[in-house]
Amino acid sequence: MQEGMNRRAWLRNSGLAALGLSLNLKSLANEERLLRHVGMAEGLINLGSNENPYGIAPGAKQAIAEMTGLANRYQFNVPTMQGFRKELAKYYGLSAEEVLVTAGSSEGLNLAARHFSGGPVVSATPTFFILPELSKKLGNKVIEVPVNGEGVHDLSAMSSRITPETKLVYICNPANPTATILDAGQLRDFTLSVPRQTVVLIDEAYMDFQEDPQAQSMMDLVHDHPNVMILRTFSKIHGMAGLRIGFAAGHASLIKALEDNFFDSTQMCVSNLTMAAALASMRDEAYRNKIRTMNHEARHFAMKAIQSMGRRTLDSSTNFFMFNLGKYPGDFAADMLNKGYIIRSNGFEGGKWCRVSIGTMDEMKSFVHAIQDISGQF
Ligand SMILES: Cc1ncc(COP(=O)(O)O)c(C=O)c1O
Repeated sequence: MQEGMNRRAWLRNSGLAALGLSLNLKSLANEERLLRHVGMAEGLINLGSNENPYGIAPGAKQAIAEMTGLANRYQFNVPTMQGFRKELAKYYGLSAEEVLVTAGSSEGLNLAARHFSGGPVVSATPTFFILPELSKKLGNKVIEVPVNGEGVHDLSAMSSRITPETKLVYICNPANPTATILDAGQLRDFTLSVPRQTVVLIDEAYMDFQEDPQAQSMMDLVHDHPNVMILRTFSKIHGMAGLRIGFAAGHASLIKALEDNFFDSTQMCVSNLTMAAALASMRDEAYRNKIRTMNHEARHFAMKAIQSMGRRTLDSSTNFFMFNLGKYPGDFAADMLNKGYIIRSNGFEGGKWCRVSIGTMDEMKSFVHAIQDISGQF
């Protein structure tokens, strides 16, 4: 409590006030577009962006340091980087022709929205905003199919909205913001049932948090199905959100078409330093397992604590989860920001919900404390 008060007072007097944000808290709540510099204000605990709170693998740090001497060179002039695409592909059981390296999976979403523009898109709602929002901006109709009451994509409802004109179906699995994962067998059947002229784009940003990612991933479908595209990122379990790297996996014909269309962006978008870090991180499975375990423990602690306050939580297969805010009278995200925590609040099932990222155990203990402080209000 005392700590909360101190932080509140400090924020009022320095961080947010200095940024001119104290007047603005209401408009920052309920965001997918929280002003990005808010998270930089010292003293805030950022549980809003589903980042890895532990940082990058030690080997990745070292690889960056070693690569700085070649920062002046283009990737194609650095011998150790020429095999990057091949190594990445091999690690995931793909051929080099089946992967496209991107600056984070956001770039993959961006390329897909543009490449498969010109017809309706089917997506869940709520879902991760980039693809549906960009598709709308490009003038496409986006058919938003509500997730079910458990926060899971409703595959049969989505299926019923696909027509011969549908260009793209966007599946976020595990889902953001609801954090749920689809049954792998059902998703496989669904994906295979979609007619070839419609591309199924499966965003697997949070797949690495599963005990056995390979068993849940649909990546293997790309070999034989030119209408399946998978996106992965190093921003989450690898902790490389600021380094910007991800990739699209697809049939060689699909990857070639994307590459032909977006040559400049796809050939040159990722730095040597980032690729060196990604290679080192990929090889460090022990580090990834450690992050997965710590995420699991901190998530379990926080979910149990929130449940013991009588709040409903949705299942989580990610490094965040959602809980119901009941009759919380105010703007929860704004109130939590005032207490020093960045979280997201979303509408779902006709009610108010909080989406909170999993920080370190200490951060989650502090967050639970802050919620206990105000739980009488909801
Ligand atoms: C579902 C999902 N896809 C894609 C992204 C984009 O991540 P990045 O561009 O850092 O890979 C995010 C980021 O939070 C996400 O939640």
